[in-house]
Amino acid sequence: APRFLADYRPADFTISTVNLTIYLEDSCSQVISELTIARQGDSQQALVLNGEHLSLVSLVLNNQALSTEQYQLSETLLTIPASSLPTDKCFTLTITTEINPQENTALEGLFKSGDAFCTQCEAEGFRRISYYLDRPDVMATFTTKVIADKALYPYLLSNGNKIASGELANNKHFVTWHDPFPKPSYLFAVVAGDFDLLEDKFITASGREVALEIFVDKGNLSKAKHAMVSLQKSMTWDEQTFGLEYDLDSYMIVAVDFFNMGAMENKGLNVFNSKYVLADSQCATDSDYFNIEAVIAHEYFHNWTGNRVTCRDWFQLSLKEGLTVFRDQQFSAQMHSSAVTRIQNVRLLRSQQFAEDAGPMAHPIRPEKVLEMNNFYTLTVYEKGAEVIRMLHTLIGVNHFRKGMDLYFFRFDGMAVTCDDFINAMSDASGKDLTQFKLWYSQSGTPVITVEEDFDQQNNLYTLTLLQQSPVTHKQPNPQALHIPINVELISHSDGIASQRQLLELTQTKQCWQFSGFSSKPTLAMLADFSAPVKLVFAQDDSALLTIMKQADNSFCRWDAGQKLVMSYIQQLTFDASYVIPDVLITSINDILTSGGDRAFIAEQLSLPSFDEAASLMADIDPIALTNALNTLASFIAQGAGQQLLVNYQECQQSNASHSAAATRALKNVCLSYLSLLPDYHYVVAEQYQQATNNNDTAQENMTDSLAALTCSAKNNLADLAQQLQHFEQKWQQTTLVMDKWFALNASVVSDDIFSQLNSLLAHPQFSLKNPNRARSLIGAFAMNNPRYFHCPTGRGYQFLAAQIAKLNEINPQVASRLITPLIQYKRFTLAHQQLMKAALITLHTLPNLSNDLKEKLDAALSD
Ligand code: ARG
Ligand code: ZN
Repeated sequence: APRFLADYRPADFTISTVNLTIYLEDSCSQVISELTIARQGDSQQALVLNGEHLSLVSLVLNNQALSTEQYQLSETLLTIPASSLPTDKCFTLTITTEINPQENTALEGLFKSGDAFCTQCEAEGFRRISYYLDRPDVMATFTTKVIADKALYPYLLSNGNKIASGELANNKHFVTWHDPFPKPSYLFAVVAGDFDLLEDKFITASGREVALEIFVDKGNLSKAKHAMVSLQKSMTWDEQTFGLEYDLDSYMIVAVDFFNMGAMENKGLNVFNSKYVLADSQCATDSDYFNIEAVIAHEYFHNWTGNRVTCRDWFQLSLKEGLTVFRDQQFSAQMHSSAVTRIQNVRLLRSQQFAEDAGPMAHPIRPEKVLEMNNFYTLTVYEKGAEVIRMLHTLIGVNHFRKGMDLYFFRFDGMAVTCDDFINAMSDASGKDLTQFKLWYSQSGTPVITVEEDFDQQNNLYTLTLLQQSPVTHKQPNPQALHIPINVELISHSDGIASQRQLLELTQTKQCWQFSGFSSKPTLAMLADFSAPVKLVFAQDDSALLTIMKQADNSFCRWDAGQKLVMSYIQQLTFDASYVIPDVLITSINDILTSGGDRAFIAEQLSLPSFDEAASLMADIDPIALTNALNTLASFIAQGAGQQLLVNYQECQQSNASHSAAATRALKNVCLSYLSLLPDYHYVVAEQYQQATNNNDTAQENMTDSLAALTCSAKNNLADLAQQLQHFEQKWQQTTLVMDKWFALNASVVSDDIFSQLNSLLAHPQFSLKNPNRARSLIGAFAMNNPRYFHCPTGRGYQFLAAQIAKLNEINPQVASRLITPLIQYKRFTLAHQQLMKAALITLHTLPNLSNDLKEKLDAALSD
């Protein structure tokens, strides 16, 4: 049954200490959990503990064994009625359970990743380890003794500080850990295995030494360096930006190959998907490097925003996630180009979060109703949640924001709190009334802002009128006006008059502002830095957009105007494939190519919106017409600007400015993607692949360049593709993360042959649905990166996805549930596609053993 935010009440019992003893064995691990419990309410309350997939061995209350008549067990709960509990307020309960990590393919609770044991407890995985009050507002001090075979598992890790270790009979050993910080069960972790260990240290601002330890699979030590440096940079940044220091004597990160998500911020012992740890230039791309640094930072920042101050209940997830994503975005912006970082944040938001907010699973950043919590680790809670924090930052300014953070930690350190608590601290510290702003936490959907302009030539008065409307749905029949920061720039056309930049606060449904001092109508650049997560209805003509592209101060506006220009051509082309694209586009592309600015920024300016970005701005999408339109536009640019593209390509290829090497590769590879559309330049793709991958000098090899060339071959189904894919597979067959890239490339080949190829890939000896990265690299890559065939008019693409989801439903419900996203958004497409997608959903709905994860989404989609 679903749970509701409105039903929250504190627990009837608290747990102050947890003493765990864990005997690790592949198919039968034993967990002894000794809990110190205190009753909070009256003595009539039963003690109800969560527990799933456990087998109960024994229950001992204050040293007295309980008989089976004294408690009740269900699939999900252990209930000890008040009549079986002591009358004292405090008591101890010792629970012995057995679990099967080997068969745990859901990868929640305790599981095996290859040869290592590890855990994932957020949100509700601890209940698969032992019976517990598995909710974030129950915080306890954990002591954990881990016991395992000494040869197979030389490292035994858990949260906090190591307090004891020793040898045991039968080649076993043990290590005992104590975490002095009370924490909810979702932050608990255990890891056991044989690893290579990269060690370093960090001296905090107050002079304490912290041991930094990164554990990776044997043989991967050299690939952990970048993660270590990223961790040190994150620690420094949080001290300098927020005055936040690390609080334990060691910080451990373990990289594993089997993991449902990116990483997990367990206190003092982060567990990471190896994809966000391992890198060297031969096997990782520039974006892998960027993402590793960002995820390392994200998990580190959680130590304060998440762990020291945690969530009262799971409806408050954005309290820690939105805030921590905002923090990692600010960190990345400072480590790299802030303009490019912001553009990439916005691309992700527009392509994925806008679609989620318009679909059947739309929810506010603080959801109100949840069936399966794992379904709410969403782009809305994370990315829109970060945009809400950013708006706050914009509204109160950087200094007040810092004061608000200080006040938040002063008030709530060591506590489990709500989103309102956070906003109240920000309001109190800044003196700003944020009552209306809080509506961002309870309303869903992307607000639409309509822009109207008027220029009074007589009085030199410019009037800007903004109207806002949040989407009306059956779940949200009467949305209110939100408090929206709108950063504008007015570009003057009269000589000697500077542009005006202003922050407007839109709080009404309709609001006007007047600006004087212009002798002719200025050009409006809306939403500088993308100051709010909204859609605009603003009919700006090509000449206004070209002015913004050239003259706006704000780099985001310059980029966005270019996107808007090409978006209007894309829209025209989807209605009429013979639409003639104006030549000013070529002029403007050539201008950008010869402008000599930051290469990473130019690369963004030259990149067309992706299929998803374009789709999220359209209604009644004909996916085939859209892929054709994108191809037509790209070919038009390639033909019109081919010569200059080649010049820039060669310039980048010859450049050896290593400080901006990633930016140079980004620009070079955008040029290559256009050139690859012209048969005359196919040889350039082949040469780049050859040089970057098939080189006698491994120092010359580069994964960014290899992958870019291969992507061109795959998207255009070039003659060399088969041979390149085969070569790449031979070369990298031993390297798991690179083989994921190989599977993803194969799944994105644009060829009529794709369905038979997909079937051979499913049968490939290295393919397995049990490894989430591998499953996503084939199935997710096909559904997300191959729109031409995913949306095949026969429906085969949808059926392929549904068939894999059906298998994953039994193996790993979380992964299955993530992959269903493109299907549940069927209402955005034309009727023929809607019907085919819906048919696939209906088939899935009839599956036996349908998981809660899939059920929640299918129910929502089919009743939409
Ligand atoms: N807290 C983790 C992070 O953001 C993610 C946990 C995701 N959990 C899940 N059940 N999907 O870093
Ligand atoms: Zn997080």
